[in-house]
Amino acid sequence: MLKRLDELEQKALKDLEGALDEATLQAWKVSYLGRGAELGKITEGLRELSKEERPVVGRRANEVKKALEAAYEGRETSMQQAAVERSLREERLDVTLPGRSVSRGRIHPANQMLRRVYAIFAEMGFQIYRSREVETDEYNFGLLNIPPFHPARDLWDTFYTTGEGVLLRTHTSPGQILVMRERAPEPIRVILPGMCYRYEQISARSEIQFNQVEGLAIGKNITFTDLKGTLVAFARRLYGDEVRTRFRAGHFPFTEPSAEMDIECFVCDGEGCGVCKKTGWLEILGCGMVHPTVLTNGGYDPEMVSGFAFGMGTERIAMNIHRIDDIRNFWANDLRFLEQF
Ligand code: PHE
Repeated sequence: MLKRLDELEQKALKDLEGALDEATLQAWKVSYLGRGAELGKITEGLRELSKEERPVVGRRANEVKKALEAAYEGRETSMQQAAVERSLREERLDVTLPGRSVSRGRIHPANQMLRRVYAIFAEMGFQIYRSREVETDEYNFGLLNIPPFHPARDLWDTFYTTGEGVLLRTHTSPGQILVMRERAPEPIRVILPGMCYRYEQISARSEIQFNQVEGLAIGKNITFTDLKGTLVAFARRLYGDEVRTRFRAGHFPFTEPSAEMDIECFVCDGEGCGVCKKTGWLEILGCGMVHPTVLTNGGYDPEMVSGFAFGMGTERIAMNIHRIDDIRNFWANDLRFLEQF
């Protein structure tokens, strides 16, 4: 029996050398130390032995059990250590490496400009009003005091659709009629931003689509002075308090009187340069007092109320501010251009 225990010990220790992974190690434990293993059976069978043999075999069996348990634990510890070392070696993490930069989207320069304009007029109490890009001949022209065949239509080269009298708006002014008809007889103070379309030769100065911001104020006793004051305040907030402005007489069928507003060229301070085409001034918008006919078309009584309106092309303004020399850059989607903003 003692011999059997010696053999068992040797065999078990030899087998253990072959246990190189966790699964084999566990299998080894079950077959040598587990319930039903030979060692256990010998211990259980002790009471069948003679009085003399029992303590000797018992002690030896206990020794073997202790030895196998110790060997098992030693093996398990070294295996765990090896695993830790391997992961340290193989999964090394260099915390000093610079991080990878995340590329972030930005707001398109045309929208950046629009948002600046919205913010300024919002401070002055103007609400933003959205109106449609596909318009009717009636709203885009007729109700704005531009009858069919009137030569003033030549100011706006139009994209007509196949639907009769349906076109892409050439300016944001039809929105004036829409707001008036919705609000009359209440006072109005709104801006109407949005995309406009013109059937023009595309060049560095003109695109077939562009953003405009229309402004409209209607109420009692609104005068040309209110118009000037509002627009000068706008220009100061956009270009800085020092900016000089001027109003030139202009003509639009839907305003009377009409004007165009210039700001002094901030590139040359009015000396004359390439940006202002040697004039010293940059045109930024068209404006005027809402024509009585237009007020009537909008549902207001021109005897009771008056109003002013203005319209500006915001890409043109962005071009001046950022010294962009070609309007085509706005819709060309060239990242080299867009990433500069
Ligand atoms: N709608 C005009 C344009 O497109 C601009 C304008 C708007 C002028 C409102 C006067 C009043 O040129």
